[in-house]
Amino acid sequence: MATAVGHLASQAGSHKILAFPPLFLWGTATAAYQIEGAAAADGRTPSIWDTYSRIPGKVRNGDTGDVATDHYHRWREDVAIMADLGVGAYRFSLAWPRIQPTGRGPAVQQGLDFYRRLTDELLDKGIQPVATLYHWDLPQHLEDAGGWPERVTAERFAEYAGLAAQALGDRVRTWTTLNEPWCSSFLGYGSGVHAPGRTDPVAALRAAHHLNLGHGLAVQALRATLPRTAEVSVTLNFHQVRPLTESAQDADAARRIDALANRTFTGPMLHGAYPEDLLEDTAALTDWSFVRRGDLEAIHQPLDFLGVNYYTPTVVSGGSAGTSHGADGHGNSAYSPWPAADDVVFHQPPGSTTAMGWAVDPSGLGDLLLKLKAEVPELPLLVTENGAAFDDYVNPQGEVNDPDRIAYLEGHLAAVHGAIQAGVDVRGYFLWSLLDNFEWGYGYSKRFGAVYVDYPTGKRIPKASARWYAGVARANELRL
Ligand code: NOJ
Repeated sequence: MATAVGHLASQAGSHKILAFPPLFLWGTATAAYQIEGAAAADGRTPSIWDTYSRIPGKVRNGDTGDVATDHYHRWREDVAIMADLGVGAYRFSLAWPRIQPTGRGPAVQQGLDFYRRLTDELLDKGIQPVATLYHWDLPQHLEDAGGWPERVTAERFAEYAGLAAQALGDRVRTWTTLNEPWCSSFLGYGSGVHAPGRTDPVAALRAAHHLNLGHGLAVQALRATLPRTAEVSVTLNFHQVRPLTESAQDADAARRIDALANRTFTGPMLHGAYPEDLLEDTAALTDWSFVRRGDLEAIHQPLDFLGVNYYTPTVVSGGSAGTSHGADGHGNSAYSPWPAADDVVFHQPPGSTTAMGWAVDPSGLGDLLLKLKAEVPELPLLVTENGAAFDDYVNPQGEVNDPDRIAYLEGHLAAVHGAIQAGVDVRGYFLWSLLDNFEWGYGYSKRFGAVYVDYPTGKRIPKASARWYAGVARANELRL
C-alpha cells in the first residue's frame, strides 16, 4: 500500500483536480451472507442470519440470504465486472459456516475451494484480495452453545482464523478479523435488530468483550500461520459523535455514546485497556468480571492498519427522560442498543438523506480520519466501507442513473483527500458495495451497489456511479 505522499490539488480549466497518492488502493466491498446465496451448498450449515431471517417480522418482506445475488455461482462474472471497473482491490468476507459448519473441527474442503477459486481469479485479474474473517454469519451451532456472550466463541474464532490462514495464506496477503463488532454485539444482543436477535444489555457487553478477545486471538493465529509480509487488521464502524449543543449535558451524552460505540473496541484493541468511564457508566449492569487476567494483553495486538467504515455522523443530547434510540439510524426496536444510556436522545443531523434516512455529511469522515490520526499516529488507515443506498431503478433504456450516489461518493472522497493533505496516512478506499445485496434487517429493499442487481434474473447492470468510480480509480484523481 502507498504512503500518503505525492497528493496534490490543482486547477485544470474549470476543474479542481484532487490527486491521490501514487499507490492509493481503490476497491469495492461485499460480505458473504449479503451476496453469496447457495445457503445449503457444499456442506454449508445455517448461520445466525439464516435462522434470524426466518423469524417472521425480523427482516423486511421476509427476505433471506438463501439466494441473494447468487454470487456463489456468478463469482466469475462478478470478478470480470470488477476488472472492467479497473478497481485494484476487493474486500469480501469468508463464510465461517462454509469452512467450519459446526464452528469446530477440520475445515471443509469445498468451502475453502470456493475462496481459492475466487482469489485465484482476482489475482489473475490483478485485483488484490482483502479477506474479512467475520462479517456477522456466526455458525448457528455456536450461537446454540451461547454465542458471542460466551468466551468459547472467541476461542473457536481463533481456530477458524488459523484454518483460513493455512488454506488461503499463500494468496491472500491482507486480512481483517472482524467487521463492525459494535453491530455484532449491540445490535445482535442488545437491541435485537440483528441476528441472533437477543435483547439483553449485559449479553451485549459480554459479546463485545468476547469479540475483542476473538479479534486478539485471531490476530495471533493469523500471525502464527501467515507469511511475514501479510497485513492484519480489524474494521470498526466508528460513530462520529457530535453533541447537539455545547451544554455540559450534551457533551456528557456524546462522551457516553463515544465510549459505547467506539472506545469499547479501540480501548482494548489499540490501547490495551477498557476506558474507565465506560466501566463506570455500565457499573450498575455489570462488574465486567468476564474480563479475565491476560485478556487485555491478548486483545492488544499490533496491527498493520485500521479499517474504517463511515456512512453518517451521530448527533446526541443528554438529560432527557425516555428513550429515542430509534432515531440513531440502527433500526427500530423497543430495546436500546446503548446499555445504560437510555436517557440519551439521538437527533437527525441536518442536510439531505440517503434511502436509509442517514444524513449525508462528508465532514464527519474527514473529522473522523483526523481524530484517528491524533489517537494512533503511527497506524495507517484504510476506508474499508463508504457508500449510500438510493432508490435506484432501471430506466426504459436499460440504464440506472444514480447522480445522488455519485454526489455522495464525490463528497466523501474529497473528504478523504482533504484528510490525506492534512497528513493522515489513508492507504485506500473501498466503495460499499460492489453489488446491490441483502441489507440485513432491510432485506433487498435498500440498494447500496455500484452495480444494480435484478433479483428475479440475477442480471447485473453497472450503474452510472460504477462508470464514474471506474474513471476516478483509473485516473487516481477526483475532478470536481
Ligand atoms: C456496514 C456493514 O458492514 C455492511 O454489511 C452494511 O451493508 C453496510 N454497513 C450498509 O449498512
